[in-house]
Amino acid sequence: MNNMAWSSLMSRIRSRTMSALMMVLLVSVGGAMAAGGQLEMDFYSNTCPHVEAIVRDEMVKILKEAPSLAGPLLRLHFHDCFVRVHTLLFRVPSLYSRLIIMHLEMNEYRIKKLFQGCDGSVLLDSTPTNTAEKDATPNLTLRGFGSVQRIKDRLEQACPGTVSCADILALMARDAVVLANGPSWPVSLGRRDGRVSMANETTQLPPPTANFTRLVQMFGAKGLDIKDLVVLSGGHTLGTAHCNLFSDRLYNFTGANNDADVDPALDAAYLARLKSRCRSLADNTTLNEMDPGSFLSFDASYYRLVAKRRGLFHSDSQLLANPVTRAYVQRQATGRFVHEFFSDFAQSMVKMSTVDVLTGAQGEIRNKCYLVNN
Ligand code: HEM
Repeated sequence: MNNMAWSSLMSRIRSRTMSALMMVLLVSVGGAMAAGGQLEMDFYSNTCPHVEAIVRDEMVKILKEAPSLAGPLLRLHFHDCFVRVHTLLFRVPSLYSRLIIMHLEMNEYRIKKLFQGCDGSVLLDSTPTNTAEKDATPNLTLRGFGSVQRIKDRLEQACPGTVSCADILALMARDAVVLANGPSWPVSLGRRDGRVSMANETTQLPPPTANFTRLVQMFGAKGLDIKDLVVLSGGHTLGTAHCNLFSDRLYNFTGANNDADVDPALDAAYLARLKSRCRSLADNTTLNEMDPGSFLSFDASYYRLVAKRRGLFHSDSQLLANPVTRAYVQRQATGRFVHEFFSDFAQSMVKMSTVDVLTGAQGEIRNKCYLVNN
């Protein structure tokens, strides 16, 4: 083959390969859009018409028995949605890729499928060959798994093999907030359960030490903006936190590890109070109400605390580091715009609970929330 023929062949191969890749990308992106679009308000109207009533009924009982589970059940959904498993979708197998590998010394193309956010993967147990999200450090403080399975069991009796664990989590989070006197929002349904859960993907969860830039990046990676960040952080009106998740602010903020090494962004009186509760850096058992005095009720008092530099985590304090989020915190701290916070929270939860969902024929409907089907 002469030089011209060879270069014309290569150029045809390149152009066809690029078209193939473009097709795959388009299908993949189109699939992502369609996947989001397939969630529906009345998804179970024929197959499990009472799903919302059953979840609500069981949630009332669960929170009556253990009111402190409202926070953990909201957090479970957040941690489910924020961890996106990257699965291999496609390889270009044909003659083209072999030629490309031979002649251009390139590897096989791999198109990755970027789904599996709110897919119930946080609920899966580890196996002998895989450490699941649940067993990764940021998730060791999650609670409420038993309650999810309790509701799943009831739904399996009412409508076997129908309602996904991912949908159950979304409904439970909404009902947890409503039953703690917070806002309600419509939960569109039809999420499917993922079959993959990997501990090392939990690096996508924002750590309590994150600064503003990092928080914005991590929320941005999920399609959530600065407003969602400041609004959803208001979820810290509910629940408790272990000392070791913020004690660096009390004893070891710059790594000097002494009594004076404190986070300057923390109010001095609050700092003293926290030090009296969390006696050392090593304390990983003492629990602290994140919104002292009203940690079981959903309200705007989280913003009053943050405005007074009394947010528990460095990440909470960082909401004062940017003019937009600071303005939101200060407005909510007046206590005169709670209805606005409630409506904002509802809107941001609708966004968060549809991050990278599996729909249609993707994934599966698990029989048990902690186990993939055979
Ligand atoms: C902005 C980034 C966020 C960071 C860095 C963060 C970090 C944390 C940490 C470290 C804890 C303490 C866990 C423990 O010690 O048991 C916690 C608790 C909690 N978080 Fe967040 N979180 C963030 C955003 C959110 C969002 C978006 C929500 C929900 C919308 C949420 C809801 C909660 C709840 C309800 C608790 C209390 C859980 C319990 O009582 O066990 N957080 N968070």
